[in-house]
Amino acid sequence: MIPKEKIEEVRDRASIVQVISDYVPLIKRGQNHTGLCPFHSEKSPSFTVSEEKKIYYCFGCNATGNVITFIMKKEGLTFPEAVRSLAKRYGVVIPDVAKTGPDPRELLYQALKASAEFFYKELSGADGASAQVYLKNRGFDGEIAGRFNLGFAPNRWDGLTGFLKKKGISTEAAIDAGVVIKGDKGNYDRFRNRVIFPITDVKGRIIGFGGRAIDNSMPKYLNSPESAVFKKGETLYGFFQAKQSIIKEGSAIVVEGYFDLLALHKNGFTNSIATMGTALTPQHLRALKPYGSVYALFDSDQAGRNAAIRGLQLFLSEEMACRAVLLPQGKDPDEFLALSGPDGMKKAIEAAEPLMEFFLKELEKKVKLTAPEGKKKYFDTAVEYLLKVKNVAERGHYASIVAATLGMAPSAIYDAIKMPLNGGFGPSKAFKGVLEAKGSNLKRGLIQPELTVLRVLLKHPELFSDKIETAIEVFRDPALKGIGLFIADSCKKGLKMDASTLGELKDEEAGTVAALLLREDDGFVESPEKMLEDSLKRILNRGRIKETTQEIINKLEESGWNEVASLIKKRFEAGPSGKGKP
Ligand code: UTP
Ligand code: MN
Repeated sequence: MIPKEKIEEVRDRASIVQVISDYVPLIKRGQNHTGLCPFHSEKSPSFTVSEEKKIYYCFGCNATGNVITFIMKKEGLTFPEAVRSLAKRYGVVIPDVAKTGPDPRELLYQALKASAEFFYKELSGADGASAQVYLKNRGFDGEIAGRFNLGFAPNRWDGLTGFLKKKGISTEAAIDAGVVIKGDKGNYDRFRNRVIFPITDVKGRIIGFGGRAIDNSMPKYLNSPESAVFKKGETLYGFFQAKQSIIKEGSAIVVEGYFDLLALHKNGFTNSIATMGTALTPQHLRALKPYGSVYALFDSDQAGRNAAIRGLQLFLSEEMACRAVLLPQGKDPDEFLALSGPDGMKKAIEAAEPLMEFFLKELEKKVKLTAPEGKKKYFDTAVEYLLKVKNVAERGHYASIVAATLGMAPSAIYDAIKMPLNGGFGPSKAFKGVLEAKGSNLKRGLIQPELTVLRVLLKHPELFSDKIETAIEVFRDPALKGIGLFIADSCKKGLKMDASTLGELKDEEAGTVAALLLREDDGFVESPEKMLEDSLKRILNRGRIKETTQEIINKLEESGWNEVASLIKKRFEAGPSGKGKP
């Protein structure tokens, strides 16, 4: 038996695009990759692969699955064989059955927790006086230091090393956790004479430390090395403390520095988190995505502006809204707060514009719009970015800014960015795939509202309600009903629809969900709430009509009008008249 978490790790780490590319060439189109289906012969590509959702789906033959099932099918392997082959390729170590003991990471957590206790005590101890003065001078003593469990690593080589030994923490775990360094002449403390910021995961468990020198030693900041429990690119400093506030605000404020984060929290901006000096990664954004939008604070110097524009690409591909808060040149958030106070910060945040608008303004400044070459450059670059905006309503918004800047009619821009004339809500290729796959006995008029409900729910699980569940119960199409109940269940459990959840579905059902998830154009013309409400109304009314019709049929039968009753029954079962009728 391969442990479940190892199977998940393989599925997460393996690049489904890379694996499938060994068999068919794939081209990136929007969020997904497409190519000719390796499971049936076709001339135009209807095979779609999503790296983010870790699934593939063919709109031609409905083949679907994840990276593991793909390898199984293509190489004729059993499930464990496929997992092991991918594990080898992507460096996932699968333990031998006999050797699975307790989670080795537990020992790391223990070593880290004990270290945090040591640092915390040292700050208020005799050796911590200098650090206390340092924190006081910067305004981060007292309550805020306590809120983030700040500590101090004394100016000794064996302070923590000795403490951990006495506590019975294994030296190996302390080394693996990165707090003790193995030297030729013995082991010694990594952090010395530094203010310590304990870094926690979302559950509040300590996973690493950041240390700020309190004199002029270099480096200014020293961080724990990556370990089995600490991955810098996946960690947001302060997320544990900020989470409730992020949920309440529906947005997160992102900064780079430890003290910047402390300054924001101290001034009431408790939905702030920090990247610890690194650029934002897709993993960072995915951690924030469920909670809403992001305000990213940048320095208004050229470096800060460039960083903002680099961020835009990432936010676009993760389909996340981001506003850029530009602080006065040379001021980091900590310095800006000291200068302008919370009111100044509040104003700066309120004035923040969508990253895309910021980008378009920067672009406008860079090119010479009076010259035709400048217009061309602006147009080409803007269109390139507009095409990356998934939501049609948003894309339209930016398109009209581009049009106004160029003094052109918006329709000219719409043409270039292929804004669908119907606003993106006709049956797209993907949608048609579902309809065709479901056969001709299902009429579009019948399942369109059902599909809409599922589509909205997949995209906005937070909109789930009892009313939706009731509507799903009366879905006419049994297959969609099964899928609907499954999605409803996932919503209730707070599960995200991706390769791992889809794995629980039968092939055909997984295919339908994959088709809904991977729709080319995921923009909603109207608000998802409104679309949901309309579809629910249609479905629930239909249920009522069905009940009423049944009542009429019963009454007619009771009165001996059997022929009329069966005529009505037949007509009713044939489905709605009008557009949906074949
Ligand atoms: P900055 O150099 O902007 O420093 O680094 P800062 O946050 O303003 O620090 P103070 O105010 O002088 O104390 C921003 C962030 O980059 C990371 C840290 O997370 C820091 O807070 N960093 C910086 C490092 O990891 N190592 C370094 O040597 C420097
Ligand atoms: Mn600073």
